[in-house]
Amino acid sequence: MRLFEEIKQLRSFLWTQKAAGKSIGLVPTMGALHAGHLQLIAASKAENDITVCSVYVNPTQFNNSADLAKYPRTLAKDQEMLAEVGCDVLFAPSNQEMYQLPAQLKFDFGALDKTLEGEFRPGHFSGVALVVSKLFNIVQPHRAYFGQKDYQQLKVITKLASELLFDLEIKSVPIVRESDGLAMSSRNQRLSEQGRQKALVLFHSLQFGKQQLKAGKGLAEVKHLVKAKCDAVHDVRLEYFELADVENLSLVESVRNGTILLIAAFVGDVRLIDNLMMDE
Ligand code: PAF
Repeated sequence: MRLFEEIKQLRSFLWTQKAAGKSIGLVPTMGALHAGHLQLIAASKAENDITVCSVYVNPTQFNNSADLAKYPRTLAKDQEMLAEVGCDVLFAPSNQEMYQLPAQLKFDFGALDKTLEGEFRPGHFSGVALVVSKLFNIVQPHRAYFGQKDYQQLKVITKLASELLFDLEIKSVPIVRESDGLAMSSRNQRLSEQGRQKALVLFHSLQFGKQQLKAGKGLAEVKHLVKAKCDAVHDVRLEYFELADVENLSLVESVRNGTILLIAAFVGDVRLIDNLMMDE
């Protein structure tokens, strides 16, 4: 596997590959890789000649400096994992390399980034859009791969790519769960043994909510029950539990075709998100 830290070198390597007719898949990550990321790499490898994985903890998407400081950074291990699964290129730039000029561009996705994560993490999606645009420009991949755990991010990036006419396909890959249902996330690495158990309340709340709604219970009552379920676990603080349209993520009040349940909660000081399609 080739490691690049500089944009110029990566661009020149990819230019040669593209000139030789090779297709390029990009898997953008913030590192602390887990099996969910490896699914993205596998999906890219199946559809492209060259897979580039970027590992970069992007400061502009953190609205809380403590969260940025605590974000797990495990580059040496990430590099080993990527080499093992046959990733072709690791791009691990510095902040100086990615932000040669201070970040001033702001993105606004209308209603899509004002709800759910956007409401609780103001500016988050603008930072995501900025760094993803940079990565698309640097790598100019044929396809880029994103996980469905960050469902709203997937929708934001799909809109970004289509509005800015990026000449690439956005591919989404289903959530990968631990055997007990916990959605894989880099942030899980920050959970204690006890916290890891408590974090299951997110997936259990989604399953419970789905089952109650399907059984005909009203959303307001289900929300109330989910809040009580989370409150019952010491150190868990529910931020939101919402039912939304799968396409535009506008919040809906009752189940219909094409809806998704989304949850965000703190387990101690670790913020986790998860989601579950109502139709599957
Ligand atoms: O999902 C992530 O890990 C990040 O938000 C992304 C897409 C790599 C942008 O920094």
